[in-house]
Amino acid sequence: MTGHPALVFRANYFGDPAASLALAALLDDTFGIDVTILDRLGGPDPTGVPFAWFDASGTCIANISAFSMPLVINGNFTRAAGLQSGAVRPDFRGRGLFRSVMEAALDYCDSEGFEAVALLTDKPTLYERYGFRALAQHRFASPAPKGGRAGATRQLDMANDADVTLLRRLLSGRRPVSDRFAPLRQVEMFLFNAALMPDLRLDLMEEDGSVIAWQQGEDGTFELFDVAGAQIPALTDILASLRITPSKIRVHFAPDHLDWTGEAIADEGGMALMLRGAEGLLPQKPFALPPMAEF
Ligand SMILES: CC(C)(COP(=O)(O)OP(=O)(O)OC[C@H]1O[C@@H](n2cnc3c(N)ncnc32)[C@H](O)[C@@H]1OP(=O)(O)O)[C@@H](O)C(=O)NCCC(=O)NCCS
Repeated sequence: MTGHPALVFRANYFGDPAASLALAALLDDTFGIDVTILDRLGGPDPTGVPFAWFDASGTCIANISAFSMPLVINGNFTRAAGLQSGAVRPDFRGRGLFRSVMEAALDYCDSEGFEAVALLTDKPTLYERYGFRALAQHRFASPAPKGGRAGATRQLDMANDADVTLLRRLLSGRRPVSDRFAPLRQVEMFLFNAALMPDLRLDLMEEDGSVIAWQQGEDGTFELFDVAGAQIPALTDILASLRITPSKIRVHFAPDHLDWTGEAIADEGGMALMLRGAEGLLPQKPFALPPMAEF
């Protein structure tokens, strides 16, 4: 680890509440995102391991955090890690601090035996030097299919603690939403993303025990973001149960479990999903990381 005068390197410091709050301040200052809302939702991801530089007053100057993110890729279980919360305070940029925390995080991922490391970024060139490659993502679109069986639904409310508890339970025992590429378990980011999406609808299909994360698009399109539960209902049953008749459907993950196929449309721009791992791990068919799993 290269030395940086007046700064102290710390790894795995989430047990220290003051240091965790200092990271929250760095993320709020850098991205305008308040990660402390996770405290109300059951706490941060317990698998998270941060790598950071602090100054003498305890201010977090630079950070990146690794967390366990088991994935299904091409139908196979993949022991993967995610990297998130990468930031350096403006006055300290350009001195190699980010490189040093990245190297520490990647050493950790390699020593823990993770087969793949994933991240999302608007600066892909920053990560190519560490062996990350951007993956093409697709959305899936079609006119709305007809038919389907209407079951009982109940709208969930992220402000209701009992609904959050129910969501946590369903997310913990969920079936991956796609076999092509999907997280096996990612409770915290689903809840965090849901809390930040004012127009998101979360509807529980009571017979299936599945939560439908969706939104009505501006043009009346049904935007399907995720389905969380032990069962994944057919798209026609989802639409019938929600009692909606949209003109168009856009599914934001590979729909191989929805008993429906849409046209795969390549993403343009936006955040890049990058993966570091063996070539054979690349998804073989069009896919997207579900928006509720973005990290
Ligand atoms: C991007 C950021 C983390 C870089 O931090 P930093 O400490 O200045 O980076 P370093 O000095 O360690 O630079 C490491 C390398 O990345 C390169 N780099 C720095 N910023 C870059 C950028 N925006 N795009 C591409 N490469 C960049 C540097 O040139 C350097 O290259 P080298 O190893 O060949 O010398 C920092 O500018 C930041 O916090 N930005 C705002 C938040 C952000 O964008 N976070 C990452 C998004 S996922």
